[in-house]
Amino acid sequence: MLERQERLATVMTLEQGKPIAEARGEIVYAAGFLNWFAGEAERVYGMTIPASAAHKRILVLRQPVGVAALITPWNFPTAMLTRKLGPALAAGCTVVCKPAEQTPLSALELGRLFVEAGAPAGVVNILSMHAPQPFADAVFNDQRVRKISFTGSTEVGKQLLARSAEQVKRVSLELGGNAPLIVFADADIERAVAGAVAAKFRNAGQTCVCANRIFVHRQVYPEFSAQLQAAVARLHVGSGLDPATSIGPLIDQAALEKVQRHVSDAQQLGARVLSGGGAAAVAGGTDLFWQPTLLADAAPDMLVSSEETFGPVAPLIAFDSEEAVLAQANATQYGLAAYVFTSDIGRIFRMAEGLEYGIIGVNDGLPSAPQAPFGGVKESGLGREGGPTGIDEYLNIKYVALSL
Ligand code: SIN
Repeated sequence: MLERQERLATVMTLEQGKPIAEARGEIVYAAGFLNWFAGEAERVYGMTIPASAAHKRILVLRQPVGVAALITPWNFPTAMLTRKLGPALAAGCTVVCKPAEQTPLSALELGRLFVEAGAPAGVVNILSMHAPQPFADAVFNDQRVRKISFTGSTEVGKQLLARSAEQVKRVSLELGGNAPLIVFADADIERAVAGAVAAKFRNAGQTCVCANRIFVHRQVYPEFSAQLQAAVARLHVGSGLDPATSIGPLIDQAALEKVQRHVSDAQQLGARVLSGGGAAAVAGGTDLFWQPTLLADAAPDMLVSSEETFGPVAPLIAFDSEEAVLAQANATQYGLAAYVFTSDIGRIFRMAEGLEYGIIGVNDGLPSAPQAPFGGVKESGLGREGGPTGIDEYLNIKYVALSL
């Protein structure tokens, strides 16, 4: 993958739209999952446990669950595939992958590399298709498929969870988010602005861990919003293949309409547009570009605060106390990622422990890494991907009772 980084990144940018520098970064990130789990494959240890009866022995084995069906999204077409493929193969499972309908080519390019690298036929199967239903029917009705791993919307995740009950299949779900990003008065404002730009505008705001609500302490609200506005003004909207671009197009018309709906709802309910606020015209491009948008005076009852926008829109909400912002941040059915910017060590621990989220970025707008467990609580998902526990999602535990 690293040798073919340029080709893989170019295919990704052409089909998904993200800036080429981000696509190159995604290839390195994606290869990192294969590298990490290649290491973990050597550590699928068992256990012996002392028994209370002298003539008995207890052995614990960890074995592959069986065929795994991997359903991946369009926003990170390569990394979300290797984040599932790496642990599945390391555990000893064969896989059937269904990439998102919008981005099949990145997955097929990766499949080509598996063939070239000598993966045995039938171990990595990648099926591109126009509609997901036949794939879902096939994998849910087949007893050989013992595991479903899905990254996508909470709505679809719930349907897959319900269907997995039919044959009691193992299921991992990485679903939607509504991440709060909280800037306290004692934060390093420059760092908080850089963190907010990374957490909000990466991939044009189309990540599950994107900052969706930016809470700013009233004392630093003017300084933070002015600095963020200046940073947003430096973002360049354009073709992903243009090296100057930092914001590419949205994935489709439905995505653009959602962003439009959220921005006009916020304006109607009293938010002020500090930057952007509308579609962006890009010469020779599609009509799917949206200007990076900064909204002041946002409030919790607006769509931008209560639903995942999945676009380059940053709503700023003022707060006065730690207790109040913690309650507001947790007032959502989602629990994937949260971000905190502060220099107070006590507050770091209080917030990290009090925030009901699976991932907490502390003074860090980009917490994702192959070595770290990624996943959410509440309606953001089940299970963890990456990190030392990622392989457990593809292993069954077997207990052998031995009587001597
Ligand atoms: C996602 O949006 O699902 C993944 C983002 C990441 O890995 O950072």
